[in-house]
Amino acid sequence: MRVCVIGAGYVGLVTAAVLADLGNDVVTVEANRETLLKLELNSIPFYEAGLEDMVRRTRKAGLLRFTVDIESGVCDTDIVMITVGTPASEDGRCDLRALEAVAASLAALPPGEYFAVIKSTVPAGTADWLEDYLNQAAEGSSWEVVSNPEFLRQGSAIRDAVEADRIIIGAASEKAARTLQELYKPLNRTVLVTDRRSAEMIKYASNSFLAAKISFINEIAVICEKTGADVTKVAEGMALDRRIGGAFLGAGIGFGGSCLPKDLACLIHTAKQHDLRVPLLESVKEINDRQVKILPERLAHIYGEVSGKTVCVWGLAYKPGTDDLRDAPSIRIIDDLIKRNCVVKAFDPMLVARNKIAAMFAKIETYADPYEAAKDAAAILLVTEWGLLREVDWVKLRDIVNVPLILDGRNTFAPHEVEKAGFTYIGIGRGCSAY
Ligand code: UDX
Repeated sequence: MRVCVIGAGYVGLVTAAVLADLGNDVVTVEANRETLLKLELNSIPFYEAGLEDMVRRTRKAGLLRFTVDIESGVCDTDIVMITVGTPASEDGRCDLRALEAVAASLAALPPGEYFAVIKSTVPAGTADWLEDYLNQAAEGSSWEVVSNPEFLRQGSAIRDAVEADRIIIGAASEKAARTLQELYKPLNRTVLVTDRRSAEMIKYASNSFLAAKISFINEIAVICEKTGADVTKVAEGMALDRRIGGAFLGAGIGFGGSCLPKDLACLIHTAKQHDLRVPLLESVKEINDRQVKILPERLAHIYGEVSGKTVCVWGLAYKPGTDDLRDAPSIRIIDDLIKRNCVVKAFDPMLVARNKIAAMFAKIETYADPYEAAKDAAAILLVTEWGLLREVDWVKLRDIVNVPLILDGRNTFAPHEVEKAGFTYIGIGRGCSAY
């Protein structure tokens, strides 16, 4: 099929590359000329494993092109996919300005029969609105709009797209649903066809449920700490019940990133718009806001006074496998430490993440090597569980730090391994009632 993807951001680029790799003829519209220039050189503006190769390969095969011009991009295509950003505003409301700008450009296209798909995360009713708007504003044209939310995770986006657990198609007509089913047929995944509003809500409900699982286990972690239980074992035991499952039961300093916090906030905002009380969702957010304070608070509790102490932060990205710092717990933790007058030395393997944090905090020192970042530290705070940290030589580290103390914000390490090397280990919810 001929597909035009509007917006070469995270979702857009991954979607475009995957569809092109399936043999579709894909053109991606990117309004930012600087980004476009980079893409023309096969340079991806963010890190995602395997994406650069896929873009290079599909471009070489003539299946993926880029353009700045929406009209030339859309002309002669079967499907227009909208993948622009929909960030949260201050009050949690979903900011639809980028989508509205695309809508205005689409309305100005020459008369024709068009088929649009919203992949961006948008509140229930947005696809209905877009279709009405286009059919009224675009004289002589007829538009059909489908909702098809994406569920990609950074770091595994290509696999998530190709091996999706489910493909959700929210359509108002059988014909529209069939067109998308045809597009995704080669992937051979489970497809659920719904109405448009339910499809839009599935995305918010899914991400908020994942957030709820994390906050739930973090609540249990607090109780484990006081009762001497180990939350990692509790989660392991819970996971054996197939009704519960093991995913997203990792206790720690909470969830960050560009989706979970924003989608939860947006769902809460939507409820408020309808005068609904949503105490469960509000607690999910409240618990997450509490978790991110734990490490600096524990440090202060242990030392009494942390002013002037050198603190090493391991990991900046909101999770491993990405250089993304959006809503990353590291930012709030570092901010807290600096306000307590600590000397902060941070490690992250991603140069982009290190540069971003250095631009935010004038006083921070950043390192590409975890040992260098730990030099003379009064404590190491594990914030992002990068795989290479699991290979750390604790004995070597013992001679580098000032005080052998690790606060493991992701329950990444086996306490006895760390303690064997002479470190004091403190995890989250691992039976340490003193903190
Ligand atoms: C999420 C959704 O998983 C994905 O379906 C959606 O399309 C986009 O949002 P992403 O933000 O890339 O994906 O990361 P995810 O792997 O979901 O992790 C989100 C946050 O939750 C991270 O900060 C991670 O550290 C945290 N997390 C995850 C936990 O604290 N505990 C867990 O058990 C799992």
